[in-house]
Amino acid sequence: MVSIGLLGCGNIGRVIAGSDAGIDIRALFDRIPEKAHELSRQSGAPAFAEFSSFIREDYNLVVEAASVEAVQEYAEEVLRCGKDLVVLSAGALADPDFRRQLIETARAQKRRIYVPSGAIAGLDSLKVGQIVGMDTLILRTTKNPASLNLKIKERKLIFQGKAHDCIREFPRNINVAVALSLAAGRDADVEIWVDPATDRNIHEVYARGRFGEITIKVSNVPSPDNPATSYLAALSILALLKNMESPLVIGT
Ligand SMILES: NC(=O)c1ccc[n+]([C@@H]2O[C@H](COP(=O)([O-])OP(=O)(O)OC[C@H]3O[C@@H](n4cnc5c(N)ncnc54)[C@H](O)[C@@H]3O)[C@@H](O)[C@H]2O)c1
Repeated sequence: MVSIGLLGCGNIGRVIAGSDAGIDIRALFDRIPEKAHELSRQSGAPAFAEFSSFIREDYNLVVEAASVEAVQEYAEEVLRCGKDLVVLSAGALADPDFRRQLIETARAQKRRIYVPSGAIAGLDSLKVGQIVGMDTLILRTTKNPASLNLKIKERKLIFQGKAHDCIREFPRNINVAVALSLAAGRDADVEIWVDPATDRNIHEVYARGRFGEITIKVSNVPSPDNPATSYLAALSILALLKNMESPLVIGT
């Protein structure tokens, strides 16, 4: 069974702690201590007020379900403490210098950094882009304006540009664009639309290369507690953890 430390006890942390997928949570940490205590009462795992105590506990892997800033702040230390890291706030890896440094540390420490598929699908297939290149990679995301705290009455394009620029404007909403770009080995062209008529978080991906064409559409149910987040993202972490130690590895 994978034993983990959970960094971030919000919406996704709650789904992970509340699951019966057989994950052994050894430590909880959140910058708002009450959130970690709340999950502690629910799961029985101990909550820590200081990151330095949280990271010294006995487990193999930290699951980050917190924020881009949390990855920037703690990822290096996680690896230096000899633990693997699951990064859900993949937007943090958009900065090439930060990413290179983290990969170097992971290599030196013989640790691994996992980016789960999160709110998207098809990252496994898109990795062919790293082998033969990809001449087109487009992500079109559509959300209800309320999930972005916007009051817009009709369907509207609010961002068009490269993934690495998008993350600066929408750090809590565009982890998917960065995960796609990392999988495919090239920056995705991103469009973000808001549509008051939708109650889903919709991601449409179009990729073209020597392999042919890939079209993906995911319509996510927004999480009731945090409409910017999709339930699928929490499930993708549970699936990653469940399969981590399986002798049969599918679709990597
Ligand atoms: N890759 C994907 O497809 C994908 C999908 C959904 C969410 N996400 C990302 O996952 C993260 C968690 O999502 P959520 O819906 O659970 O968010 P949430 O806001 O419900 O919970 C985040 C929790 O982390 C804590 N936190 C934030 N920054 C912290 C820090 N620096 N140190 C310690 N604790 C910190 C917050 O206090 C909060 O309790 C977000 O960054 C979100 O953007 C990624």
